[in-house]
Amino acid sequence: MSEALLEIRDVNMHFPIKEGVFQKTKNHVKAVNGVSLTVNKGETLGIVGESGCGKSTLARTIVGLLEPTSGDILFEGKSILDLNKKQMHGLRRDIQMVYQDPFSSLNPRMKAGDIIAAPLKAYRMTENLEQRVKELMDLVGLKAADYNKLPHQFSGGQRQRIGIARALALNPKLIICDEPVSALDVSVQAQVINLLEDLQKELDLTYVFIAHDLSVIKHIADKVAVMYLGKVMEMSDSESFYKHACHPYTNALLSAIPLTDPLKEKERQRIVLKGELPSPANPPTGCVFHTRCPFATEACKQDIPSLEAKGDAGHLVSCFYPMNVEKKSSIVNH
Ligand SMILES: Nc1ncnc2c1ncn2[C@@H]1O[C@H](COP(=O)(O)OP(=O)(O)O)[C@@H](O)[C@H]1O
Ligand SMILES: [Mg+2]
Repeated sequence: MSEALLEIRDVNMHFPIKEGVFQKTKNHVKAVNGVSLTVNKGETLGIVGESGCGKSTLARTIVGLLEPTSGDILFEGKSILDLNKKQMHGLRRDIQMVYQDPFSSLNPRMKAGDIIAAPLKAYRMTENLEQRVKELMDLVGLKAADYNKLPHQFSGGQRQRIGIARALALNPKLIICDEPVSALDVSVQAQVINLLEDLQKELDLTYVFIAHDLSVIKHIADKVAVMYLGKVMEMSDSESFYKHACHPYTNALLSAIPLTDPLKEKERQRIVLKGELPSPANPPTGCVFHTRCPFATEACKQDIPSLEAKGDAGHLVSCFYPMNVEKKSSIVNH
């Protein structure tokens, strides 16, 4: 049995919108809305969704930077919301983050070696510090000779390697990679993803890998969750997910990926979503996706579909009219 390292239970993160002289709360941005996810040890959970759907907010609640409005987050079976300051300090060691932008996430005035050494210093692990930093640089494919270089002297991909080395410094158990390759050239993206995969095997790491593009996580994710307006729309193991994605939103995202086979590419049919992404402050009633869904009916405007198994075991979908599901199972589930 695989062991759960991280469990997110019905987490909501609603930011108040304050207005007027008295800064009264007028409404809330429902950035994360009832998300439940489990990540097993050694596994990679890919989280995908377009910009603004709540991915980074969820990531920040996992690393303890934001306290969720409600719900619970368990790490190694214990709620991180109950931790005292000292325990939180320990948790911050176990859960590290790699950020999207390798330009702004590194201090431009600090030398690469000092950036990687910073977490070690913060945790007073200063024995053989320089040696340890050089080992980390080697681990992520940087030259130890680059220790004294400043971030701007590195390429984008190399800068992200500095960010990864910094995240690895404290031997974490879980790394949240928040769009780690989105700011990189396509040719460099694969190198960084390969590096993360190699490190996972070597160091027994667990990843939450956030992306806004399904093609990025195809090879790295064991499980995939698709988010839309703060909610999980579909979730399953990678194989079932890419073989028969069920949610119309997922299928729209998949249909946007160009295919490498030129014949198939010629026949590729795009599902184009209508309308704009609604505001998370005023999400649509019923299924939050109904305003853009090509298959939405009256029922979708009124009732909220629950995230439940459709088709393959463990393949969860939040939709009244899932695609690619055998008739038999869709009747059972409706
Ligand atoms: N601190 C905050 N205060 C108010 N709204 C926020 C805050 N952080 C994020 N949001 C809003 O929450 C929504 C989700 O944002 P985010 O989690 O950054 O999305 P993503 O990472 O998927 O692009 C957005 O509408 C964003 O404007
Ligand atoms: Mg983000």
